[in-house]
Amino acid sequence: MAIKKFITVQEAIDKGSGKVSLHGWVHRERGSKKLKFIVLRDSTEIIQCVLKKDDFDEKTWDTIDKIQVEASIELTGEVHKDDRAPTGFELQVKEFVLIGPSHEFPIQKDTSKEHLADYRHLWLRSRKMTSILKIRSTVFGAIDEFFKGEGFYEYHSPIFQAVQCEGGSDLFSVDYFGKKDVFLAQTWQLYAEPAIFALEKIYTIAPSFRAEKSKTSRHLTEYWHAEMEIAWADFKEIMDYGEKLMKFVVAKVLEKHERELELLDRDTKTLKATVEKPFIRMTYTEALKILKDKCDMEIEWGKDLRTIEEDKLSKLYDVPIICTHYPKKVKAFYMTEDPDDPRTVQGCDFIGTEGYGELIGGSHREHDIEKVKQRLIDDGEDPSEYEFYLDTRRYGTVPHGGFGMGVERIISWICGLDTIKDAIPFPRTMERYKP
Ligand code: 4AD
Ligand code: MG
Repeated sequence: MAIKKFITVQEAIDKGSGKVSLHGWVHRERGSKKLKFIVLRDSTEIIQCVLKKDDFDEKTWDTIDKIQVEASIELTGEVHKDDRAPTGFELQVKEFVLIGPSHEFPIQKDTSKEHLADYRHLWLRSRKMTSILKIRSTVFGAIDEFFKGEGFYEYHSPIFQAVQCEGGSDLFSVDYFGKKDVFLAQTWQLYAEPAIFALEKIYTIAPSFRAEKSKTSRHLTEYWHAEMEIAWADFKEIMDYGEKLMKFVVAKVLEKHERELELLDRDTKTLKATVEKPFIRMTYTEALKILKDKCDMEIEWGKDLRTIEEDKLSKLYDVPIICTHYPKKVKAFYMTEDPDDPRTVQGCDFIGTEGYGELIGGSHREHDIEKVKQRLIDDGEDPSEYEFYLDTRRYGTVPHGGFGMGVERIISWICGLDTIKDAIPFPRTMERYKP
């Protein structure tokens, strides 16, 4: 017998007619005494398949009759157009082979959040998760392509680190052969800045860890962080790169994933606007005024913007907002003091549309070593632990800066998800680290 050449479900649909061999999993099944309908799923699509009792010997029909959801099978038959079928085509099956049986797939009746989280490893097969994972793959590829195209080198910081960068409260400490001053990376930044003196333009996509005690739809304890750092750059240039990166990533997803966005029921209006229109740029002080005038929310100058305020702001526009010049005391120690108003810093948050919150955080970096030291002291840190970092300000310092983009935040926003947990295969949160 000739060896079968399998094509994908999508290829079979594109072919539209003729004999094909497919393999995949039983997505749904229903049947009567003489007829069986199987919806076959592979990584590309689903297709309805019809099997008639008369076409099979007794033993094979018995197997077909008892087939259960998520069994893996091989099918050969004739594909044809059928407007009633879920994806517009149907396969009349003539040959059937069971590859891997499935018995009472655990995700059928109970689809509660907890149950799906317990069976995350099986839930990955759902059409929702498959669509998100495909978009996730494109997002990672696009980030890489963008930075390479702009002449950046890929560079890697350690994950075991001995200093904090974004505040000590959310560090994960590690028992490092009995030593207790070792933490998992919150960011690559302090180990990236030294490398701009060698490579000038660098980026990474790496895991970051935050022991944040927040049970929100935006926080993971382990997330993927796309970061860049660039020498000889002013604040505006850093923001421009952030805007260009987001436009590039969203454009790639829109170009490649019309089908997945449709399956996720994502209204793409703001995504299209993100690609086509300039982002809204405003200072923190202007943001407070807009919140007061348009949203009737009064915030005392000096207080950080909370989720609720970011959400209100974001709903006023159809493109992301770049909010700049926050009060120094709510931002990290390394941000450059603004020469026009030293109470503020040259730092920015990119706020996603539709209440998706902060997607990028970035800044220009303070080059004045005394100011850096003082701000570390103000944060309760011991500057002597940062000697390696302070050397970046001692030997040929240059204006520089960078940003970090939460990759799952971007995916969650692009896909229009209810929670960031679905933007990563196995989410780690305060409450869950299994399976
Ligand atoms: O604003 P953050 O804390 O900035 C930094 O870490 C800088 N050192 C980056 C840099 O300049 N190189 O974090 C950057 C981004 C946030 O804007 C957010 O998108 C994401 O990381 N992020 C999280 N994503 C998921 N879960 C969490 N707990 C996150 N915390 C931050
Ligand atoms: Mg931030």
